[in-house]
Amino acid sequence: MNRIDRLLAEMTLEEKIGQLSMLAAGFSVTGPVLGGDTTGDVRTGRAGSLLNVYGPEATRRIQRVAVEESRLAIPLLLGFDAVHGHRTVFPLPIGEAAAFDPDLWEETARASAAQAAADGVKLTFAPMIDIARDPRWGRIAESPGEDPLLASLFGEAKIRGFQGEDLHEAGSVAATAKHFVAYGAANAGRDYASTDLSERTLRETYLPPFVAAVDAGVAAVMPAFSDLAGVPLTADERLIGGWLRGEAGFEGVVISDYNAVAELVVHGVAADPAEAAALALRAGVDIDMMSHCYRDGLPEALDRGLVSLPEIERSVRRVLALKERLGLFETPHAADRPQPGTPSPDALRELAREAAVRSIVLLEHRGDVLPLDARPQRIAMVGPLADARAEMLGCWSGAGDSASAVSFFEGLALARPDCDIRLSPGVGIRDGDESGIAAALDLCAGSDVVLLCLGESRDMSGEAASRSDLDLPGIQRRFAEAVLALGKPMIVLLSAGRPLCVPWLAERADALLMTWFLGHEAGNAVADILTGRRSPTGRLPVSWPRTVGQVPLFYAERPTGRPASAEHYTSKYIDGPTAPLYPFGHGLTYGRFRLGAVVAEPADAREGDMLTVTIELTNEGPLAGEETVFLFVRKPVSRVSRARLEMKGFGKLALASGETGRLTLVLPVEALRFLDAALRPAIEHGAYELLVGPSADRARLVSYWIEVGAA
Ligand code: GLC
Repeated sequence: MNRIDRLLAEMTLEEKIGQLSMLAAGFSVTGPVLGGDTTGDVRTGRAGSLLNVYGPEATRRIQRVAVEESRLAIPLLLGFDAVHGHRTVFPLPIGEAAAFDPDLWEETARASAAQAAADGVKLTFAPMIDIARDPRWGRIAESPGEDPLLASLFGEAKIRGFQGEDLHEAGSVAATAKHFVAYGAANAGRDYASTDLSERTLRETYLPPFVAAVDAGVAAVMPAFSDLAGVPLTADERLIGGWLRGEAGFEGVVISDYNAVAELVVHGVAADPAEAAALALRAGVDIDMMSHCYRDGLPEALDRGLVSLPEIERSVRRVLALKERLGLFETPHAADRPQPGTPSPDALRELAREAAVRSIVLLEHRGDVLPLDARPQRIAMVGPLADARAEMLGCWSGAGDSASAVSFFEGLALARPDCDIRLSPGVGIRDGDESGIAAALDLCAGSDVVLLCLGESRDMSGEAASRSDLDLPGIQRRFAEAVLALGKPMIVLLSAGRPLCVPWLAERADALLMTWFLGHEAGNAVADILTGRRSPTGRLPVSWPRTVGQVPLFYAERPTGRPASAEHYTSKYIDGPTAPLYPFGHGLTYGRFRLGAVVAEPADAREGDMLTVTIELTNEGPLAGEETVFLFVRKPVSRVSRARLEMKGFGKLALASGETGRLTLVLPVEALRFLDAALRPAIEHGAYELLVGPSADRARLVSYWIEVGAA
C-alpha cells in the first residue's frame, strides 16, 4: 500500500477535510477574512496548508507542529505570493513583460523560487497570466499584458523558473497559474466584477495562456474571484472539471482564491457554506483558501448528500500527491535544505538591476536629450516619485523590504557624482498640498536639465485598486505643467502599475520613460539608461490609451465592416483620436533602426511546413542599440472575421551605429491554426499576409504575402 493509500485509510473525515483547508497565518492576510489560531488547527490536522508564513524560524516552528505534534505527521504546504520576487524584488510583471525575454523571465523566477524555498515556502501563487486590456483594472500591474502569445511565453518561462526540472529540488517551488479565467475582462474595469465573453473570445484570447501553463507542467491553478457569464469560476464545473482537467489535461491541484468559496453565497449561487463547499469541491477546487467553508461546511454537505466521500478523497489525493512531489514528507523543513547554486545577494541585486533595465520603455525622445551630457551639469530632480524608495517595489512585493530599494535620486547621484543633482518633490502623489511647488520651480529654473518624476503610488494598482480616471493623481498635472512652462530640457520618469492617459505630457516632454515599478534596483537601472551605460530596449506589452474612454483597448481587434478612417460612417470617436497614444510593442532605443527587406520562405507553403522569415535591419543612428521586431499575421479572407493583426513571434537584434544585420524568425504553419466557425481548430488555406515591424502600428509594418495549401 503506498503512502497516500495508507494515510487515506487512517485519516478521519476531519483530517481529510483538513488537507483541503488552507489558512492564513495572520502575517499579512491578503483578503477580507483575518487569520485565526492556526497552530491549533495544524496540531489537530484541521489545516493542511498555510499561506503568508515565511522565514526559516517561523516555518520551522509551524512545520514542527505538523510533523511532530499532529496525529498523522502530514507536512504542511506553505504558500506565498512571490509574484515578482521574494526578498529581492524584480520589476512588476507588466514591466518585466516589456523585456520580451523568456530567458530573463525564467531567471528571475528561479531566483525568486530559491529565496522563497530558503524561507520555507514550497508553493507560490504565481505566475499571474491574466490577459489585461483595461488599465482601469488595477491588476493589469500583475499581468503580462494584452497578448495571448506573450502571456503564454511569460507563464511558461515563470513556471520553468519556479518549478525547475523537478519539484523535489531544494530550490524549486510549486507554481500556481492564476486567475483562471478571464479575470481581467471585469466589467467596467472594476476588480472582482462580472465578466461576459463569447466562447470564441474565451478560447482565442483568455484560455491559451492556461493551455501553455498546463503544458509547462504547472503544479496548481487558482480560479478567479469573478463570475463568467453568471457562473463563478470557483464553482465552474464546465471550465475546471471539463476544460482544465478534461480538455487541457491538468492533473494538479486547484486552490481557491482567498475566501472565494464562501463568496459563492454572496454571488448568489449557494444558500449556505455547506452548499458553497459542495459546489466548489464538485467543480474541482481541491483547496479552500481561508474561507473555512470546507472545514465547517463539507461535513454537513456530506450529511445532506451534496457531496460524496470519494469526491472528498479525490481532492485529498491530489493534495498529498503534490506534497510528495515536493519532497515534503522526506524533508518538511524546506528552509534547512542546502541550496546549491543559489545566487549570492550581490548576484540577486545585479539580476534585479538587469531585469529593471530591460523593463524600462522609452516612449518619447526628442532632440537627443538622452543619454545625459557627459559633462558635469546641474540636474533638478522634482516630482513625488523622485526619491520614493517605498514606492519602487510596487504591489505584491512579497517579502521585499523597501528600505533597501534604490530611489531614482539615489541611483543618479551614485552614477553621476560629478553632477550637482538637487531634489525638490514639489507635490505629493495624491494630496493637494501646493506648498512645495515654488521651491521646486526655483530649483528647476536654476538647473541645466530637469528630471520630472511623476506617477502613482504603489498601492494604486494591484488588487482592489481599479481607477476610473487614468490621468496623474492629485495635483501632479498642475505641477508638471508649471515645470514644463519653464522651457528647460525635460526628462519625465513615469512610475505606475498601468498605462496613464497623459497625452498632454507625452507631446511636451523631451524624453518620457515608463518605469512601471522596477523593484529594488529601480534607481540604479534608471541611472544606467539616463547616463547611456545601457540603451533602452523595453517594448509595451499593452496598448497605451490616450483617454480612459478608449478602454478596453487592444491591437488584435477585428476589422468590423467600417474600420476607423477619416470617413464619417466608420468605427471611430468624433471627439478625439481612435488610435492608442502608443501601440502594443512601442519602445524607442538609442539607435535609429530602418527596416529593410523582409522575405518569407517558402512563399507557397504547405501544412506541416516551417516558415522562415528573414528581416534586414540597419541602425542609422549615432549610437548602438537593440531593436525588437514583431511578426504579425493577417488572414484577409476567412470563414470568420479575424483580428486584423495576430502576433506570432518576435526577435531582437543589437546593432552598432551604421551596422546592417539580419534577423530570422521561424514560424510553423501550424501556428496559423485558428478556431473555425464551429470553434474547431483549423488551418485555412489561401493567402496570408505576414507583417513585420517595430510595433503593432500598422503604418510601420512591412508586409509579405504567402499562400498556404494542403500538405
Ligand atoms: C489574493 C489574490 C491572489 C493571491 C491570494 C493569496 O486575494 O487574489 O492573487 O494569490 O489572495 O494572497
